Amino acid sequence: CGIVGYIGQDDTKEILLNGLEKLEYRGYDSAGIATLNENGVEVTKVKGRIASLREAVDQSVKATHGIGHTRWATHGAPSEENAHPHQSTSGRFTIVHNGVIENYVDVRDEYLSGVEFKSETDTEIIVQLMEVLNNEMNDVAAAFRKAVELLTGSYAIAMIDRENPDTIFVAKNKSPLLVGIGDDFNVVASDSMAALHVTDQFLELEDKETVIVRRDGVEIQKPDGTKVEREPFTAELDTTDIEKGTYPHFMLKEIDEQPFVIRKIIQEYQNENDEIKLDPEIRQAMKDCDRIYIIAAGTSYHAGLLGKQFIEKLANIPVEVHVASEFSYNMPLLSEKPLFVYISQSGETADSRSVLVQTKELGHPALTITNVPGSTLSREADYTMHLHAGPEIAVASTKAYTAQMAVLAILAVDTARAKGIELDFDPMQELGIVATTMEALTDQKEKLEDLAREYLSTTRNCFFIGRGIDYYVGLEGSLKLKEISYIQAEGFAGGELKHGTIALIEDGTPVIALATQKNVNYSIRGNVQEVEARGANSMIISMEGLNKDGDAFVIPQVHDLMTPLVSVIPLQLISYYAALHRDCDVDKPRNLAKSVTVE
Ligand code: G6P
Repeated sequence: CGIVGYIGQDDTKEILLNGLEKLEYRGYDSAGIATLNENGVEVTKVKGRIASLREAVDQSVKATHGIGHTRWATHGAPSEENAHPHQSTSGRFTIVHNGVIENYVDVRDEYLSGVEFKSETDTEIIVQLMEVLNNEMNDVAAAFRKAVELLTGSYAIAMIDRENPDTIFVAKNKSPLLVGIGDDFNVVASDSMAALHVTDQFLELEDKETVIVRRDGVEIQKPDGTKVEREPFTAELDTTDIEKGTYPHFMLKEIDEQPFVIRKIIQEYQNENDEIKLDPEIRQAMKDCDRIYIIAAGTSYHAGLLGKQFIEKLANIPVEVHVASEFSYNMPLLSEKPLFVYISQSGETADSRSVLVQTKELGHPALTITNVPGSTLSREADYTMHLHAGPEIAVASTKAYTAQMAVLAILAVDTARAKGIELDFDPMQELGIVATTMEALTDQKEKLEDLAREYLSTTRNCFFIGRGIDYYVGLEGSLKLKEISYIQAEGFAGGELKHGTIALIEDGTPVIALATQKNVNYSIRGNVQEVEARGANSMIISMEGLNKDGDAFVIPQVHDLMTPLVSVIPLQLISYYAALHRDCDVDKPRNLAKSVTVE
């Protein structure tokens, strides 16, 4: 979910709507805003997208402050009743919330027995609690501090009070929230993108802090009420980075940006002597550890699987890759000197953050590899490596995935060199070749669109097979396809298919096989024969030098280790066109959110 708040001039509604449009990647089941003017609080909520909210909001009635929310449902189905903002029974307090209140049943039973609830959300507990406490204490700021003190779980909260028309009350714990500083106005937002159209100055908040935001000032308080002074930072984003330009979809724009991102990474991770430029402490941490644990979710997990290949093959350190949500309650036996590497485009994924909190408690060092350096995972880890991919807006990750692999390859080579391992592999030169190859691939959109049309326009399901590195890329290809086209797609190790899954192959079932690895070229083609013998409609994506007549698509040759950075491009584009031909919402697929800040 995403939240935004604004206090200042009378164009509040437009500023809130604009902010929510930028936050829509965080969820888009339902949305709402609440604004305050001399006539009181006006709440507008809809089930669905911000575009519908925009239609529903009456912009002719002006307001000078308000709060807004775009939702990814956790407690309670997407509906107008469950959409935020939520109000207390008297209508005095109005709140938006991102996160999950874990003890909401206990709070309800202990403090709110007589209260009649209007929604099924955990959020309504907070606003009702606020009203009960304020009735007892008769001091809104103190009641607000007390209310958040009683909550356990994660929250980013913005609240307005009908009787306090010059204030937004803000609190944060575990969920991201920033305060943007303006000239005669201030804003609150889940991330800086939502407020960049009005300011580039932001204050970071720490967990458990509360903030009183007024038009002319911001007061940060610790839980015990002591005030905190903090300097704002300048957000380095450019508003043009978050516009689609002439592209029909962000996803297509981001696919095309990949060669530039790779070149940017080469530039950022190289010094004037053409040596790898890396924080020496990261180098030392890599040298000191006896095993690396990569923790990630979704696409970042798939990048982690390939990171393992780079680090083990080049730097000779054992690597385990774990899905964050599993690791947090099912921790394996750890080695003596583990190093935890968190891979996360957003740096906000709650599943990964929960592992970070645990491993920090155990005293283990942590490195975060992220596209958002000021994010929670970045701030809380010991070290950060930046992906330099620029904002990724489409929910389905593309450029962040290839950037993650590029950065992991650089890290692996740097570690190998630091350990004195002789390598016949210059990562910057190989990445340069990757960037040029990516360009050649993104130029072949028509051909890939034809393949998508031929194989995927009507199918119910699809399989991706590959061996070794190709298997991991297949996992990512299948995730891309299912995320945006809703085709049931699965990635399998070529040799494993026959041990069960081959039962699903019917006449015409599409099977996309990757054949970019010399050592398994023969065997993966054997697996293709097996599925074809059972009626599959197979498509082989191979690499120059290993290709055979009849291959559907051939990728120019790159270094063996670098193949995943290029072989994923046709898969991204095939998924994109499949989704387009099936009339799916490419940038905002159903049920998903780009950054999932709940566990
Ligand atoms: C969400 C997104 C996925 C993404 C995953 C991890 O589930 O829908 O596309 O891969 O989170 O996100 P992260 O920001 O941690 O890389």
